[in-house]
Amino acid sequence: MEIADRNKYDILIVDDEPLIRESLYEILRIEGYRAHMAQTAEEALEVVGSQKVDIVLTDLKLPKMNGIELLIRLKQSYPEIEIVLITGYGTVETAVEAMKNGAYDYVVKPVNDGEIKIILEKVVEKKEILGENKDLREIVAETYPAYFGNMVGVSDKMQKVYHIIESVASSNATILVTGESGTGKGLVARAIHERDEGRKGKPFVEVSCGALSETLLESELFGHVKGAFTGAIKDKEGRFEFAQGGTIFLDEIDAFSTGLQVKLLRILQDGVFERVGDNVTRRTNARIVVATNKDLKSLVGCGDFREDLYYRVNVIGVRVPSLREKKEDIDLLVAHYVEKYSMENNKKVVGVSEEVRKLFMEYNWPGNIRELENAIEGAVVMAQAGIINKHDIPNNEKFLISSAAPVEGQTLKKVLESPERDVIVSALDECQWNRNRAAAALGINRTTLYNKMKKYNVSFNKPGQP
Ligand SMILES: Nc1ncnc2c1ncn2[C@@H]1O[C@H](COP(=O)(O)OP(=O)(O)OP(=O)(O)O)[C@@H](O)[C@H]1O
Ligand SMILES: [Mg+2]
Repeated sequence: MEIADRNKYDILIVDDEPLIRESLYEILRIEGYRAHMAQTAEEALEVVGSQKVDIVLTDLKLPKMNGIELLIRLKQSYPEIEIVLITGYGTVETAVEAMKNGAYDYVVKPVNDGEIKIILEKVVEKKEILGENKDLREIVAETYPAYFGNMVGVSDKMQKVYHIIESVASSNATILVTGESGTGKGLVARAIHERDEGRKGKPFVEVSCGALSETLLESELFGHVKGAFTGAIKDKEGRFEFAQGGTIFLDEIDAFSTGLQVKLLRILQDGVFERVGDNVTRRTNARIVVATNKDLKSLVGCGDFREDLYYRVNVIGVRVPSLREKKEDIDLLVAHYVEKYSMENNKKVVGVSEEVRKLFMEYNWPGNIRELENAIEGAVVMAQAGIINKHDIPNNEKFLISSAAPVEGQTLKKVLESPERDVIVSALDECQWNRNRAAAALGINRTTLYNKMKKYNVSFNKPGQP
C-alpha cells in the first residue's frame, strides 16, 4: 500500500507508558499513517468523540478504565472503528476474550514493529475493500436475494456473507473462508469467483489439500519436471499455472506441511514459484481463496501454522455461519432440497410434516447444511408422496437426543461442562494430542489441562492409538 493511501487513516494510540506510546507514534508516522495519542481510556473516548479515528491501538492495562472496557464502549458507539490490543505477557487469555468482544487482533509485548505494521496493513486493506461500497451498503443491505450464487439463505448472517462476497470479489486480496464442516465454504469460494467480472470466465481451480500427501500436493500445486521424482515421466503444469487469470481455491489449508507453507507464503508475497525439480521461476496471478474448518489462530498458537502466513492469508476473512446460528434459513433450505431431490428421483414430494419441521428447528445440526441435505435426500427416496414424515428420515433417532435445552434439575455448571469438554478435545485434536501445545493454544497451563482431562475422562492418547 502506498503511503498516500495510509495517510487517509487516523490511528489512535492509547498507552499510559510514555516510552511505548511515543515509539508507536514514531513507527506509525514513518509508515505514513496519521497518528494520535492518548494516555488513558477516558482521554481516548474524548479524542474519538471529537475527531475521526479509524483504528485504535490500545494497551490492555490502563490506569482507570482498562483496554477491554474501552473496547466494549467503542464497539457500542463506533462499531466501524477497528481495535487492536497490546497485551503484556500472561494476559493473552484476556486478549482472546477481547477478540470475542470484537477486537480485530492483539499483539503481545514487547511490541514488534514488523508485527504491528502487518496488522495495520491488514486492517487498512479490510477497510479499503469494505469501504468501497459503504454508501451503497445501507441501500442494498436488505436486498440480496434468497438465492445468491448456489447459496440459499435469507438470514441476516447470510446477507452479511453475501455482502462480503460482493465487496471483495473484484479485489485481488486473498480471502480466508472459515466455518464448520458442511456450512458451504466451497460455495462461498465459487461465488467469489463468479462475482468477479475480470475472472469469472477463467478457470476456477479447487484443490482439496487434505486429501493429498505432501509430495503429491506439492506437484499438484506447482507442477513438476520430468524426472523430478519416480513416476514423473513428463513435465507437468501445476494448478497455480492452470488457474492463471482465474481463481485457485485451496480447501483445508490447515493440511499444508511446514515446507509447503513456506512456498505458499512466497506465492502470496511475490507471486512466484518453481515446478518441482525445476529452476525456472514462474509467476501466477491467480486470485487465492483458502478455506479451513479449523481455528487457524490456535494452530498458530501450537506452532503448526506459520504466523506470517496466517496474516498473509487472513487479509479478508469470511466466516460462514453454522446452521444452528441461522435456523431461520431452515424452511427455505428444506424447500430447496425437497424440490431438488423430488425432481432427481421423480417423486412428488412437496414438503415436510409439522413434526419434522419442529425436530429440524430444535436439532443442532453438527454436520450443518450437508447434514440437512443428506437427511432430505434420504427422506425423499423413502417417502411415498406428498409429505415427508419423521419415519421417512434416515437415522431419525438423533433428532430426539440432540436437543441442547438444559434438562430440568441440571445446574448451569453441569450444562456447561459438555461444551468445555468439546473445546478441550478439539484443541488436543488440532495439536496432535500434544498436551503442552494444546494447553498453550487454550491459554491455560498444563496442570489445569491435565486436571480437566481427568475430570472429563478425556483419553491421554490420541484415540485409536495405544
Ligand atoms: N447456503 C447454502 N444453500 C444451499 N446449499 C448449501 C448451502 N451451504 C452449503 N450447501 C450445501 O451443503 C453441502 C456442503 O457444502 P460445502 O461442501 O461447500 O461445505 P464446506 O463448508 O466446504 O464443508 P467441509 O469443511 O466439510 O469441506 C454442499 O452440498 C452444498 O451444496
Ligand atoms: Mg469443502
